[in-house]
Amino acid sequence: MEFFAEDMYRENIMDHFKNPRNHGVVENPDIGFADNNPLCGDEIGITVKLNKDKNEKPTIAEIKFNGKGCAISQASASMLTEQVVGMRLEDVKKMKTDEVIKNLGIPLQPIRVKCAILGFKVLEAGIFLYEGKKVSGK
Ligand code: FES
Repeated sequence: MEFFAEDMYRENIMDHFKNPRNHGVVENPDIGFADNNPLCGDEIGITVKLNKDKNEKPTIAEIKFNGKGCAISQASASMLTEQVVGMRLEDVKKMKTDEVIKNLGIPLQPIRVKCAILGFKVLEAGIFLYEGKKVSGK
């Protein structure tokens, strides 16, 4: 039974890798950041358009990613974009890397954990950069 479940998750990973969701670049993004996995050089860039209603906390209206890399990094970023759309930035910041890894549904070797969280780390850094700019008024 376990075996079949894992197969299903592997298929889902390959589907996200071959047909990435929310792939590309958002027009006039509020948040934009890119980084790579220093171990392999694989890259992910993320752009985000926010919903900034006057008195509401900003939420993610649209998010896209691009880059190049292994199936795990690209599929995980694709899944992440589906997961966070509509979320408040403050809730995204509270997310734990375990939640992102869990999306993949398969056990990962320690070396592959960096692949799985690359997109999330890029999004997190982009949010911090955006909030820093807001504070400093740049
Ligand atoms: Fe480079 Fe996975 S091998 S991010």
